[in-house]
Amino acid sequence: MPESPSHAERFARLTALLAEWQPLWRPMPFQHRRPPWAEAHPDLVDSLRSLDDAECARLQADPFTASPLAERLPVAELAALVELPELPGEGPCLSAQWAEHMGGRKWQQVAAFVPRMAALPRASLLEWCAGKGHLSRTLSRHLDREVTGLEWQAALCHDGQALAERQGARVQLVRQDVLAPDAARWLTADTQVAALHACGDLHGRLIELAAEQGSAVTLAPCCYHRTAWAHYRPFSRRGRELAVAHGLSLSREDLAMAVQETVTAPRHVRRHRERANAWRLGFDALQRQVRGRDAYLPVPSLAYGRMPESFAGFCRWAAERKRLALPAGIDWRAFEQEGQRRQAEVTRLELVRHLFRRPLEVWLVLDRQRRLEEAGFRVELGTFCARELTPRNLLLRASRG
Ligand SMILES: C[S@@+](CC[C@H](N)C(=O)[O-])C[C@H]1O[C@@H](n2cnc3c(N)ncnc32)[C@H](O)[C@@H]1O
Repeated sequence: MPESPSHAERFARLTALLAEWQPLWRPMPFQHRRPPWAEAHPDLVDSLRSLDDAECARLQADPFTASPLAERLPVAELAALVELPELPGEGPCLSAQWAEHMGGRKWQQVAAFVPRMAALPRASLLEWCAGKGHLSRTLSRHLDREVTGLEWQAALCHDGQALAERQGARVQLVRQDVLAPDAARWLTADTQVAALHACGDLHGRLIELAAEQGSAVTLAPCCYHRTAWAHYRPFSRRGRELAVAHGLSLSREDLAMAVQETVTAPRHVRRHRERANAWRLGFDALQRQVRGRDAYLPVPSLAYGRMPESFAGFCRWAAERKRLALPAGIDWRAFEQEGQRRQAEVTRLELVRHLFRRPLEVWLVLDRQRRLEEAGFRVELGTFCARELTPRNLLLRASRG
């Protein structure tokens, strides 16, 4: 069995592959009648179009296994580069009773996170962006130690504090904007910080403060695109060097790709989403004809349950939002069918982006890992739970000395 690559090798190869293939993974098939890369890769378009629905669904769920695209895209190498070990946990199993007041999935995530925290005996424990402090409470009960949780929303602090008191957990939830300058006071060389699913800039701030102060960190990052920067600025020196050397430049939309998964939503929600997408694509065909411009026109999203009853109703709503006057005598059925045809095609073309999602996410986490390493930390990177429990299942465990 070949040896698994070091993090430094992974980071370098992933930068090269993401940069080399960016003309294919960056364009969103939804926005183009023909993907911009179609002319250069006609065989790839043909093999994607020829996939049946079952094969397409299988590749959406698992883009790296038995992929018919392996002849044309670096499937095997990407698969090897994103293969990370499961980080070992320690300590006894958590009491199932502690799941009370948490959603089932959240409890399972917390139960997988806590034993992997590798709590330092004398550190003061801090949760970053704690919500109602589910993780803080569990940590406190598991280790029988005090935990402070920082959370921005007063209502969450209030509800979470009440839960902690009811359960006798030694937790203080403190209202704190972690992006504010005074958030720095919570981190010292003796602090150990836990952050489960802290979004973009929120975990970015944690990494920078921990690097400055030397605080230990256990972090499962999330939502890399939730950032004030329109263009990604690598955290690490090495990340900046590699990005420049290979010409990899990431926009906020590119970062969003790393977390767009076909999650296992209930069947009726999936059906609803498919119909909504087909209608949007049908409207796209209509607006291109009405405006006489072969260009995508973004239409705002509609909350679940607000979708008009019919395709014509949806198009009238969308046209009104875009101040577009629709002519009389539109052949609604023809445009609706065109939307369904495009939907099937877009789903297949999207498989190219699927293939690069996890590699992009792993690259972003390697950049964070490298930043901490450059600041003198010893950093472990691996998974803390199965992807079915949460696709954001990567964990960084870092401490200095
Ligand atoms: C994705 S949730 C994660 C919550 C919790 N860690 C969990 O896994 O259940 C992110 C949390 O960050 C909080 N948050 C957002 N912006 C914040 C800020 N600037 N300072 C502190 N907390 C913030 C939100 O209110 C929310 O509770």
